[in-house]
Amino acid sequence: MKFFLDTANLDQIQEVASWGMLDGVTTNPTLVSKEKEPFEILIKKICAAVPGPVSVESVSTQAPDIVKEARELAALADNVVVKVPVCLEGIKAIKVLAEEGIPVNTTLIFSPMQALLAAKAGAKYVSPFVGRLDDIGHDGMDIVDQILTIYNVYGYDTEVIVASIRHPMHVVEAALMGADIATIPFSAFAKLIKHPLTDIGMEKFLQDWDLVKR
Ligand code: G3P
Repeated sequence: MKFFLDTANLDQIQEVASWGMLDGVTTNPTLVSKEKEPFEILIKKICAAVPGPVSVESVSTQAPDIVKEARELAALADNVVVKVPVCLEGIKAIKVLAEEGIPVNTTLIFSPMQALLAAKAGAKYVSPFVGRLDDIGHDGMDIVDQILTIYNVYGYDTEVIVASIRHPMHVVEAALMGADIATIPFSAFAKLIKHPLTDIGMEKFLQDWDLVKR
């Protein structure tokens, strides 16, 4: 299973990279807006710091404009993946970009049918937003399960990025379902390793080791 970091913050990216756990990064316009650096400089720095794909979102709304913007974004670095929202214009653009070999992460996926259309268009990744579905009283992980089943039935190789993750249990469920990737915010990433019994156990072992040394 691959772990991506859902951020545009370089400090967070460098920290998780130092853990040896970073397979990629996903950004979006909201995350980019929180950083101080000019957009293109920031993306180039992120791409240089990440040993894997970096999703960068297009903000155009018509297919020809999305295609043009995607080509420009893809030219920023070899590991750029262009994020395209799942709408009809986006699907049209994905088809063109897939034929050109530009990898697309189809974003804002909230239904299995949207994911099927993205796969048929040739998207390399889809990003179902599980936390935002949970927020409105649905079970976000249900659509991940449905997408994985559909892709498995028809043999699509589009990879499923579980996105809008709020807590470690989303990552556990994603792993149990066999999702390809979880893109995790830094706060949840830092919690993956934690267990109070591990902390208590380590403290007790160190105390007892002090007795051995006396
Ligand atoms: O990267 C897109 C997605 O992960 C956004 O998450 O927390 O804004 O719903 P969130």
